[in-house]
Amino acid sequence: MSDEETQPESTEAIDEILRTARSVRRRIDFDRPVEREVIEECIGIATQAPTGIPAEIWRFLVLTEPEPKRALAGLYRQALSALAEARGGEVKTSQQQLADRLDEMPALILVCAEGRPAPDSIPLQVSFYGSILPAAWSLMLALRARGIGATWTTLHLLHEREAAAQLGIPENVTQTILLPVGYTRNAVLRPAERRPPGDITYWNRWGHPKNS
Ligand SMILES: Cc1cc2nc3c(=O)[nH]c(=O)nc-3n(C[C@H](O)[C@H](O)[C@H](O)COP(=O)(O)O)c2cc1C
Repeated sequence: MSDEETQPESTEAIDEILRTARSVRRRIDFDRPVEREVIEECIGIATQAPTGIPAEIWRFLVLTEPEPKRALAGLYRQALSALAEARGGEVKTSQQQLADRLDEMPALILVCAEGRPAPDSIPLQVSFYGSILPAAWSLMLALRARGIGATWTTLHLLHEREAAAQLGIPENVTQTILLPVGYTRNAVLRPAERRPPGDITYWNRWGHPKNS
């Protein structure tokens, strides 16, 4: 391997992936499995993300068989029902539709971390989650680059202990993001409406508008 600095030839393709990595909940080909090698390739890319100390705490639990998918989907639905109740019955239709067909998703990828975040230290918590969530996001992007849609979900964590018991996850492993994944079908993914950088970026001192 050379030490020479490498630069992608064009940023266009990368920027397009970054701009359009939207949640894909409905436009999924439920009948097309996502190949194990493709998932492993994407995990290989994801683990190029930054890692802290201890290094490489990431673990990936990929559910493709009906029974574990059903078990996790059941817990996810319970969590969504509780959320709906708390909001007076209101959840987004697409969120409900994802929940309804969660166990039909070709794969559910649960991104886990060895260890537990410190209960009362912000630096240690940031370090812990900062060592796992970039990999989860890279995984979603790598999947997206291969035509595989996903949704960034956390709802099942309301039942993290039950999920651990169902799936054999040890006590000292923290579950984080659950990515339900499948090849997209007729999904048109567009950039989201977001506030412009000038409105959310300060230079040199908090709160100073960029031009002052
Ligand atoms: C921390 C976090 C947790 C989320 N949890 C869920 C979830 O459990 N279920 C779900 O359907 N979407 C979940 N989402 C996805 C958001 O609902 C999604 O980003 C939102 O629908 C906006 O769509 P977009 O990402 O395509 O802009 C979560 C997003 C974030 C950032």
